[in-house]
Amino acid sequence: MTENVKQAGNVRKICVLPGDGIGPEIVASALAVLKQVASDAGFAVELHEEAIGGVAIDAFGDPLPEATLRRSLESDAVLLGAVGGPKWDPNPPALKPETGLLGIRKALGLYGNLRPVKMLPTLVDCSTLKPETVSGVDFVVVRELTGGLYFGKPRGVEARDGVEVGFNNMVYSRPEIERIARKAFELARLRRRKVTSVDKANVLEVCQLWRKVVAEVAGEYPDVELEHILVDNCAMQLVLRPTRFDVLLTENMFGDILSDIGGVLTGSIGTLPSASVGDGPALYEPIHGSAPDIAGKDVANPVGTVNSVAMMFEHSFGRPDLARRINDAVCRVLEEGYRTADVAKAGTKTIGTKEFTARIQEKL
Ligand code: NAD
Ligand code: IPM
Ligand code: MN
Repeated sequence: MTENVKQAGNVRKICVLPGDGIGPEIVASALAVLKQVASDAGFAVELHEEAIGGVAIDAFGDPLPEATLRRSLESDAVLLGAVGGPKWDPNPPALKPETGLLGIRKALGLYGNLRPVKMLPTLVDCSTLKPETVSGVDFVVVRELTGGLYFGKPRGVEARDGVEVGFNNMVYSRPEIERIARKAFELARLRRRKVTSVDKANVLEVCQLWRKVVAEVAGEYPDVELEHILVDNCAMQLVLRPTRFDVLLTENMFGDILSDIGGVLTGSIGTLPSASVGDGPALYEPIHGSAPDIAGKDVANPVGTVNSVAMMFEHSFGRPDLARRINDAVCRVLEEGYRTADVAKAGTKTIGTKEFTARIQEKL
């Protein structure tokens, strides 16, 4: 599918990967917003939809078909919904939807995953935590995305002395740590100038190197405060006193796990966007998964994906004004009391994905 919003000026190519489960629903929502904002601003976009994940396995026998990868590499930005589902869980690694997602991150060199977790005042009472704990939460997880335990070799399952053994490796080189640390420090300079580096240096050698290199990089940023925290304590602090964090810098899997806590703080994982950045086109996706339990029911919260488009306008297209327009429209709909089921409360009006999207569009 190719679709143009024709306007004057540079045409930005966006590769659209809806994926599985609620992916197509939330991406449809985000695209409606994207097209409207682009068209209103005279900003020309060209959308190309491709397959990734389970749907790509079903159609092409490959979770990351060559055409998808080529199109992504040729684009200015990529928008992704989510991949995965029970149907493909028994598949071998090469035929798992998640392998497609990890593959595109690696192929695009997306080593930095930025996951902002910001409490919207209107949603304070949606968290299972106390309002005084979550009010004012505003941090970004800077998750290393192309190394660590997810990619380290050797990996596999094999028989050793007749016993089945599974193994993965958390591997980081100095340059990998340096470049993600610099991302975190640069970002902190635009925020409250504090980096918290998360590791397990009390046990793991790879984390001892991580801690040493991060401390060295910190020397280049004397205006930014650095603290180190062990990952187990970090998990606790995130629910105990989350407002103490500004930029959380961490390894791939620690970042995956810790960032889902953001869903508890903000009321729903469905509200959380992300940007995956490297040296080429960036990829934008909500942090949640394909939510098979609610797929196809028009109940998914589209805010994480819509706000991922906002991040795209800011980071890939240099248009923070359009990003703000999107964020503000989302806030106003929530302030009026319209909610998808995941953040509904007594006194709010529960509506579906499509109606929520239409209401965002009204506010743009
Ligand atoms: P999940 O994030 O899909 O769902 C966890 C819970 O959050 C579910 O109850 C779900 O209904 C809810 N939820 C998630 N997104 C929501 C939204 N937008 N609105 C309302 N509720 C929402 O995690 P899971 O169930 O562990 O994983 C399901 C599948 O998704 C797995 O196959 C997994 O591998 C995959 N996954 C993919 C991505 C990705 O594509 N980036 C991320 C995480 C998980
Ligand atoms: C995420 C997801 C992915 C990850 C999975 C689906 C491979 O959980 O984007 O957070 O672990 O990175
Ligand atoms: Mn995850």
